[in-house]
Amino acid sequence: MTPRIAPSILSADFARLAGQVRTVEEAGAAQVHIDVMDGHFVPNLTMGPIVVQALRAVTTLPLDVHLMITDPGKYIDSFVDAGADHISFHIEANGDVAGLLDRLEEKGVGKGLAVNPETPVEEIFDFLPRLDMVVIMTVHPGFGGQAFLSENLAKVRKIRQKVDTFPEPKKLNIEVDGGVDRSTIVECREAGADVFVAGSAIFGSKDPAEATRELLRLAGS
Ligand code: DX5
Ligand code: ZN
Repeated sequence: MTPRIAPSILSADFARLAGQVRTVEEAGAAQVHIDVMDGHFVPNLTMGPIVVQALRAVTTLPLDVHLMITDPGKYIDSFVDAGADHISFHIEANGDVAGLLDRLEEKGVGKGLAVNPETPVEEIFDFLPRLDMVVIMTVHPGFGGQAFLSENLAKVRKIRQKVDTFPEPKKLNIEVDGGVDRSTIVECREAGADVFVAGSAIFGSKDPAEATRELLRLAGS
């Protein structure tokens, strides 16, 4: 597994977003994580397709859109049209999961399913064969800069074990999201995660490029 660092722009300086993304791109970030919140699924409001569109023009990195919204089906097309490469929605959101995955497949974007801390990971097992990525929340979604909830790493282990029982080898990225920093990234890697979202640990640091490189080193690259 090649580790991938996914800086979350939620903690970036929005007045200098293009520059911040270029900085982490040059430092070795593999994808840009974009946290979409609707003020309903989570108690915070953030950004929509126009931010994805703006980023599409300034980076060639894959855009990894994390939908923390109640009704993902309503907005998938807008995010695809804006330039999203991967879209993850929550198992706890409204809508028919299989139907939403069909839509993502038709659109040709990466398919991800995210799991909140209070949700048993077994709830997504039936969908694993169809997914490109699982997003394991290691905080309660809604805000950057929260403390890492390590008990969620058991879910990462369970998914790796489950995928190992599949008859055909399956490429599945496991992304950990929330509280990932230099003190928690190693346990995430050891549990079997290979995509590491980091918001405050990168953009909250004095030197986002060095923070990205350090996380990449600690993730085993
Ligand atoms: C939390 C978001 C995260 C957030 C992570 O709801 O999904 O992606 O930006 O921020 P940090 O890395 O600061 O915990
Ligand atoms: Zn996120």
